[in-house]
Amino acid sequence: MIEKTLSTHTYDVVNPLLTNLGEDVMGFLNEVQLQYPKAISFASGRPDANYFDIEKFSEYLNFFIKTTALEKGITEKEVLNDLGQYNRTKGIINNEIAKYLSIDESIQTDPEDIIITVGAQEGIAMGIMTVCDKDKDVILVEDPAYIGITHFSKINGYDVDGIPVTSEGISLEKVEEKIQYYRSIDKNVKVVYVIPNFQNPTGIAMSLANRYRLLELAETYNFLIFEDNAYGDFSYEDKEYPSLKSLDKNNRAIYLRSLSKTLYPSLRLSLMVVTQSISVRGKIVRLSDLMAKTKGYITVNTPSIIQAMFGGLLRQNKYSLKELNQEKILGMKTKRDHLLKCLEETFDTEKYTWAKHIKWNKPEGGFFIKIMLPFEVTKQDVLDCAERFKVIFTPMSFFYLEEGGEKELRLAFSNLSLEEIKTGVEQLANYIETKINN
Ligand SMILES: Cc1ncc(COP(=O)(O)O)c(C=O)c1O
Repeated sequence: MIEKTLSTHTYDVVNPLLTNLGEDVMGFLNEVQLQYPKAISFASGRPDANYFDIEKFSEYLNFFIKTTALEKGITEKEVLNDLGQYNRTKGIINNEIAKYLSIDESIQTDPEDIIITVGAQEGIAMGIMTVCDKDKDVILVEDPAYIGITHFSKINGYDVDGIPVTSEGISLEKVEEKIQYYRSIDKNVKVVYVIPNFQNPTGIAMSLANRYRLLELAETYNFLIFEDNAYGDFSYEDKEYPSLKSLDKNNRAIYLRSLSKTLYPSLRLSLMVVTQSISVRGKIVRLSDLMAKTKGYITVNTPSIIQAMFGGLLRQNKYSLKELNQEKILGMKTKRDHLLKCLEETFDTEKYTWAKHIKWNKPEGGFFIKIMLPFEVTKQDVLDCAERFKVIFTPMSFFYLEEGGEKELRLAFSNLSLEEIKTGVEQLANYIETKINN
């Protein structure tokens, strides 16, 4: 009886903005992977589970409990009782994180300006909900963009608009043009969201000059930068890309530092640095306090047990993840190098005339590579390719706000073995050759 009642109610009982998302493209890719389990999948940008090191979880947790008891002169049972309680909304290991940010990321910050969130996704949600006015403000994002921000904005009724991505990151010229345009219609660009390091989905890194320039633009046009640094650890060249936050003299950047790729996603742990102060009805308040207020109504606080584990890990490793992650980063670099080599060998223009139409970028880090094709790829192509050629890719068009990327693919290499990368590229080449020749 209940089932019948529920099933008669359709979209009119749920958030109508859900329809703005269009088709569930990520759900579609998961379905394809389930339907063709033998196909090699370049679709998912998941980290490689072989590097998770979850066995150490309890050791780090115990280390945190022991060292906290000693430091505070209380019993371990008291530490445990505290971990089981509701806790500070901003987090319980902010001092440890401030040290980590200073040592590994050259970001000097007051622990009070750090919020430990349930993944970067919560940071995005909390940040947008705290600073944006749905009626007046606009969020600019890279186009193609990470869907975590675009889809969150769409289902919650925030205006989001796309800016093309050049080989040096988000087009700053277009950012300025869009700001002028929105001003002319009485709207305000409040936030520019960027992934400066090895962007998802294109793998592109923002040049140093553009990092400085974007910070300048934020000052000139009075907007906030949301800097999402999920992939910054995975840098494969001898080139330094300082975060915007570490260069941010005027407090324009809000820093989101997910640990999903750095450690593992099930932790649901991310660090947010919010150093701005703002005036609310004549009173100066920390923006981080307002964000924490919002967080209080989303997740109350980030699980203390998970924070304690990470706190123990930091204490045991001199507040640095560099040494701990060396092998993992090297492993990812090997995969990137291998993928590039396989592409060069398989799409050998001297051997195959059709191959001269295929191009790809050479990302300096991250998990993704962009392939440019001479033909369009659709959802149907993903299915055909999975069925006939046993390989799955993501059409880049899935990440565009409107039109774009019809002749491009995103290949994620993070979760494949070297053998799978080789076979996957060969199978992809067979598919592309067949498409070009038919
Ligand atoms: C750019 C970017 N930001 C954030 C995330 C997710 O972060 P979290 O797992 O911390 O919510 C991802 C995951 O794919 C991502 O690509």
